Amino acid sequence: MAKQMYLTGFMIYCPAPHMIMSWVYPREKIRHEWHEVEYWTEIAQTLERGKFDMFFFADGWGFSSNREIIRYGIQFPIQDPSVLVPYLAAGTKYLGFALTMSTTFFPPYMLARKMATLDHVTKGRIGWNIVTSIANGEARNFGMDEMPPHDERYDRADEFMDICNQLWSSWDDDALLMDMENGIFADPDKIHRIDFEGKYFKVQGPLMATPSPQRRPYLFQAGQSDRGRDFAVEHAECIFALATSTRQMRAFCDDIAARAEAHGRDPDDIKILWAAQPIVADTESEARARQQEIRARIPLEASLALMSSHFDYDLSGLDIDKPVGDLVVPGLRGTLDAYKASNPLVTLREIAGSYLSGSEDGLMIGTGEQVADHMQHLLEEGGGHGFQITPSYYAPDFFADLTDKLIPVLQKRGVFRKEYEEGTLRERLSGPGAGSASRPKRKRAAER
Ligand SMILES: Cc1cc2nc3c(=O)[nH]c(=O)nc-3n(C[C@H](O)[C@H](O)[C@H](O)COP(=O)(O)O)c2cc1C
Repeated sequence: MAKQMYLTGFMIYCPAPHMIMSWVYPREKIRHEWHEVEYWTEIAQTLERGKFDMFFFADGWGFSSNREIIRYGIQFPIQDPSVLVPYLAAGTKYLGFALTMSTTFFPPYMLARKMATLDHVTKGRIGWNIVTSIANGEARNFGMDEMPPHDERYDRADEFMDICNQLWSSWDDDALLMDMENGIFADPDKIHRIDFEGKYFKVQGPLMATPSPQRRPYLFQAGQSDRGRDFAVEHAECIFALATSTRQMRAFCDDIAARAEAHGRDPDDIKILWAAQPIVADTESEARARQQEIRARIPLEASLALMSSHFDYDLSGLDIDKPVGDLVVPGLRGTLDAYKASNPLVTLREIAGSYLSGSEDGLMIGTGEQVADHMQHLLEEGGGHGFQITPSYYAPDFFADLTDKLIPVLQKRGVFRKEYEEGTLRERLSGPGAGSASRPKRKRAAER
């Protein structure tokens, strides 16, 4: 059987998730406003019709009040997707859902319970994108003056994960009795306090939620630094990454495989999904015209504002026509480095010209056949397992175009499912039997 591709719909609960100005659309074609539950339900049901693996929500919890961010609606405003997901789960049967939550801002007990509850509500279809967060504007909404230093955020996240894993394992499998004859609800000897005391957190436990279908959410991570990658191979089952060439993709996959081995994990147990922004239409020229129209409406200052926000660095004082050189940013450092790696003389103007708005070569733009060719080529040459697809125009229509014009091509080529497999999100991504693993699988010492 040909290698199977994994696909997600990748959004934020906001008007224009990753493509700046993608909220602009002919008014008469807008069926639901972006904040309405019907808008998201339509997208979720379309993704399920297309047999996508999941609906993945990135998230953010504050910004630096930059005027352009507000003026153009650049990843602003952002509402809480954890409130949306139960509605979407009720309107779908198989589609998975992944939520982004920060180990820097949320208390571990609250997060562990929320995820366990969502796993119940979705019947084993929930995933968590573990982030350590990037911006001081977010930190200031959670009682901090600024973000804790980069590596310390990951140290804290390690401790956070230890607590969550202990909480999700705090009930033995046979603890819940519901013994009607003897009136015994649960066995007190089989539900355990964790009494955790670490450098950053103190948590007693046990978890107040019963073990959920997956026990713990399917775990994603999306950090690109050295420390972030080590964290990923320690904790994650799937990594979400950005790359600007197949060479970068391959280097990333090789690096993750080497780190996984060193951590005693089988590299095949860690999936890698790439951010992608295809535009599919009936003809290549139609797709290209649409791409040009989309790009033309993005003001340069808006791209620079999004970059300032992602890099957590005010770029407005810099000469945008000079090579970026050795500029070091506190935020998404790995993303800036990826641009520099593909062109050491790259300028801010050049980065802004394509920032999160699809690659210049335009290969992901065309008919379903052309885009499918390119997706297959990327995975064959670069490695990895699939794509996180972010919409560049009105999301219900964007995903309908993919579902009608791209998915049937992938299915016909035997690289994408025609029907959903039964089981939890983890079983779909990691294989049958992986359903309720309480920790990522590790090789025994003798196998390393
Ligand atoms: C592809 C990608 C997607 C990310 N998505 C989010 C997100 O939705 N919300 C968030 O707060 N941080 C997000 N992050 C930030 C990371 O989780 C991490 O906190 C940040 O990249 C700093 O770590 P690093 O230096 O290891 O990259 C993302 C990072 C990458 C590379």
